[in-house]
Amino acid sequence: MPWPKVTSVVAPDPAIEEKVEAILAQMSVEEKVGQMIQPEIKEVTPQDIKDYHIGSVLNGGGSVPNNDRYAKASDWVALADSFFEAAADCADGKVYVPMMWGTDAVHGVGNVVGATLFPHNIALGATGNPELIRQIGEVTAREIAAIGIDWDFSPTVAVVRDDRWGRTYESYSEDPQIVRDYAAKMVEGLQGAGDSSEFLNTEHVIATAKHFIGDGGTINGIDRGDCVDDEQVLCDIHGAGYISAIEAGVQSVMASFNSWHGEKLHGHKHLLTTVLKDTMGFDGLVVGDWNGHGFIEGASVLDCPQAINAGLDIFMVPDPDWKVLFQNTVEQINSGIISSERADDAVRRILRVKLRAGLFEREKPSQRPLAGRDEIIGSPEHRAVARQAVRESLVMLKNKNNVLPLNPQQKVLVAGDGADNLSKQAGGWSVTWQGTGTTRDDFPGSTSVLDGIRDAVDGAGGSLEVKEDGNYSVKPDVAIVVWGEGPYAEMQGDVQNLLYKESAGRDWALLKKLQAEGIPVVSLFMTGRPLWVNRELNASDAFVVIWQPGTEGAGVGDVLFTNAEGKAAHPIKGKLTFSWPRTPDQGPLNVGDADYDPLFPYGYGLAYGESDTLGDDLPEEYDASFEASDEMQVFNMRPVEPFSIVLEGCKNDRTALSGNSAETTSITVSCVDRHVQEDARRALWNGAGEGMVALSTRDRQVMVDYLENDGALVFELKVDLAPTDAVVLRLGCGPNSNSDLDITDTIAALVGQGWSRVIVPLHLFPDVGSDFGLVLPPEEFFYRVLEPFTLVTAGQLDLRFSFVQVQKHTAGKAIEVSAC
Ligand code: BGC
Ligand code: BGC
Repeated sequence: MPWPKVTSVVAPDPAIEEKVEAILAQMSVEEKVGQMIQPEIKEVTPQDIKDYHIGSVLNGGGSVPNNDRYAKASDWVALADSFFEAAADCADGKVYVPMMWGTDAVHGVGNVVGATLFPHNIALGATGNPELIRQIGEVTAREIAAIGIDWDFSPTVAVVRDDRWGRTYESYSEDPQIVRDYAAKMVEGLQGAGDSSEFLNTEHVIATAKHFIGDGGTINGIDRGDCVDDEQVLCDIHGAGYISAIEAGVQSVMASFNSWHGEKLHGHKHLLTTVLKDTMGFDGLVVGDWNGHGFIEGASVLDCPQAINAGLDIFMVPDPDWKVLFQNTVEQINSGIISSERADDAVRRILRVKLRAGLFEREKPSQRPLAGRDEIIGSPEHRAVARQAVRESLVMLKNKNNVLPLNPQQKVLVAGDGADNLSKQAGGWSVTWQGTGTTRDDFPGSTSVLDGIRDAVDGAGGSLEVKEDGNYSVKPDVAIVVWGEGPYAEMQGDVQNLLYKESAGRDWALLKKLQAEGIPVVSLFMTGRPLWVNRELNASDAFVVIWQPGTEGAGVGDVLFTNAEGKAAHPIKGKLTFSWPRTPDQGPLNVGDADYDPLFPYGYGLAYGESDTLGDDLPEEYDASFEASDEMQVFNMRPVEPFSIVLEGCKNDRTALSGNSAETTSITVSCVDRHVQEDARRALWNGAGEGMVALSTRDRQVMVDYLENDGALVFELKVDLAPTDAVVLRLGCGPNSNSDLDITDTIAALVGQGWSRVIVPLHLFPDVGSDFGLVLPPEEFFYRVLEPFTLVTAGQLDLRFSFVQVQKHTAGKAIEVSAC
């Protein structure tokens, strides 16, 4: 077997082992199983913690105490106290085992508004500064401790080999060596050095190396897909981060959603037990991923002895019915389906970690030194570390005629929709799970890229004009355009090719326009992964990848300008730890490949003063099929850019769905699960008056092609409660120019039918070629739409939808419905 034996800096301690055995000997089967079950904070009460002897809880991305996005440190700590006290209530004679709470602080404590959010891991890779990674871990641990939490589900040590994966930005590098170096440093920062008195003291938290194993190596970069590398490659590439994390004393490893050669990791005894525990010698705990055990063949979320038998120690089970899993697991141990040796091994590991973390002696969260202190969260010292990381992570791909660094005493234009955009800056795992639906108010204390540029220009006496669309009033000496990918996270961030298509050509057009006017153009590209941007590179004089820099966007401006002596204020020194594609469909492209042919190789990154030979004539052609032009995707697990969900009640109260749910006087819309988490939305009308839900955009979408090519509106929905009044399906184009189709009968016929696919030919919409689109100039008449999918009723109705698109070549004569 290729796997090495790994020696952890945290050596087995006989005194701890003795305590583990003494506690274990007193525990009932129920108490043991309680340690193995990890519910989500929304689905568990303190009473449950006591009754089911629950050993740990988690909060998922965007899940916060009391559902209050703006919860203070004291609110987090109060909830942590209530869990802690429930576990500590041993009046009924059970043995005391303290609680742990785990959270995803993957680039700072993303779930806490006001936290310091660092550049994502791909950017940290570019810094080439492992010591900085350690400091980031330390800062993150302090901010976690401030909310009374003990455990971080980080670092991600995936070695991403196919950048189409939506979690590419969570990876430090395609190169296992970098991941190996960084994983150890991040673990050391979060937990404190394993051989020091800092180790897991009140300023540090338990770290998790995730997701074991091969998550970055799935076929086509598909989230939760299948990795088919051979075992040597699995070890050498995807194992690198685990080896160093274990050496550094990591106390937890998370099993991955993906499979290896078709077998789910959560049920993979060879990899979880033989490799990780027996061979590598990992003696901490293995936690599952979000209901991940339920995907094992033959198992379900609530019935899964397979996972424990394979070596999983804790079920992460956000499912509201986790008590059923508890009961089933108790029975399976009693009947021997799960051996008591295996159950004991799981609990032993959990107890060992809790003892090492000092949790048994620790007072309740609110009495710990950092807990509840809001001033620690996003403190100036912490933000300074993040700002340094921003500065060091910038990678310059082009610098024609040494445009950069810029003299700040000029007329500077700032354009592009990323300049003052904290959602884009922060990316996924920021306030919300996918990072979508946030505004500047969700990032108090942050700075945008624009803020940094403004400081530099104002400070030096230059002049600044800010125009998102580039329509300046004074011709500038230089234009800085900030643009790029919007936020996304797991699953929803997967793409089929690396063509940059976020703005459907708008960013490219903006760059070209400025360039055509003879203005030197500096592109600042925000992205979570390398993308094919040849056209945008050609249209820029200088091109800097700024990744998704987090809350300290001003760090970018620190680097772009010269100081009073005319020298660069800071060097630009980031180097790519991912290879940059030469074509949009290049597929996996990694340093060391036999036919390695990147546009920019691994390690690339210009410094100031270096000469640039790129030129302006990179090939711009690509296969039109990459743009998937036969359909306009509107909703696919989430609203597809540029659409978002808005709802409106009968009092003209209009609101956007930005978090997990939103409410108006007559309709409530919330995120619900169909196949996977939050891939559907539930709309519930209460009958108080007319209520509407729409997929809406401010940019009119051209419909002419669809209308003229047998287009249809296709959607999948499930109706749970019959409509009590007429239901209208609307193509919305602004006031007085909607087209309403009565679909009451179709909806009524779907009640209780499960999920169905509905195809509505566009030609059925009344007036679709006449007053539809009235507000537009004549040449753009009709055929443009703001809200391609809108449902309106004044009655009661309860339904869910999970997929909406407009597609060509689909329309028949009438509405068609089929089960799906
Ligand atoms: C993700 C993990 C995360 C967990 C808890 C999962 O869906 O894959 O990375 O730690 O959820 O939020
Ligand atoms: C994420 C959680 C998130 C959940 C949404 C999971 O995959 O990891 O953090 O809250 O999905 O249902």
